[in-house]
Amino acid sequence: MVSGGGTNLQALIDGAADGRIEGARVVLALSSRDGVFALERARRAGIRTAVIGKEEYSDDEQRADAILAALREAETDLVVTAGYMSIIHKKVCRAYAGRMINIHPALLPKFGGIGYYGLRVHKAVLEAGESETGATVHYVDDEGVDSGEIILQRRVAVSEADTPETLGKRVLEEVEHSLIVEAANLVARKLEKGKNGKNQRTTVGNIME
Ligand code: GRF
Repeated sequence: MVSGGGTNLQALIDGAADGRIEGARVVLALSSRDGVFALERARRAGIRTAVIGKEEYSDDEQRADAILAALREAETDLVVTAGYMSIIHKKVCRAYAGRMINIHPALLPKFGGIGYYGLRVHKAVLEAGESETGATVHYVDDEGVDSGEIILQRRVAVSEADTPETLGKRVLEEVEHSLIVEAANLVARKLEKGKNGKNQRTTVGNIME
């Protein structure tokens, strides 16, 4: 699920193609906005696209139902929200509990939750005088925003010369793209084992780096 440039989507497409996300393929790019480059990336890779946002469905519940229908139609096993700039309805969170992950460009639980998106996250990190930041991949739950169990985190040093823009770019390029692929692979492996009835108790939760 995307809303913008889709560099994380590209990382997932590449990771599925070269086997870093074992046995996976990207079946759908679902955007909350039309005209974004993420959709173009999907088209170039021959991936089905859908646009379901507030423009198409102003009612939250109807939008959630349309999202669920699109995910089911594409037979989605694992949902990755990658640069998705819209709050996900509880209905969708519940339907994909344990099968929906999000990447956030900070070291959660710091600098997460409502209002912490895009450059605002990096601005807040700099204003707080943090010496390091990074990215977090976590499960999406229905309790809050950026609140679910952490799967993987990776750190990036903040430099004195950083602006929100330079910091955001470094977090994205040095950390997010590899982290999202690793996390998607971990969760995909876990789901696959669950499907085969093996190792049901294996958990990937709280693997911190
Ligand atoms: C990333 O920092 C992601 O974590 C965020 O939006 C940014 C851009 O993502 N929430 P992308 O290039 O659209 O994948």
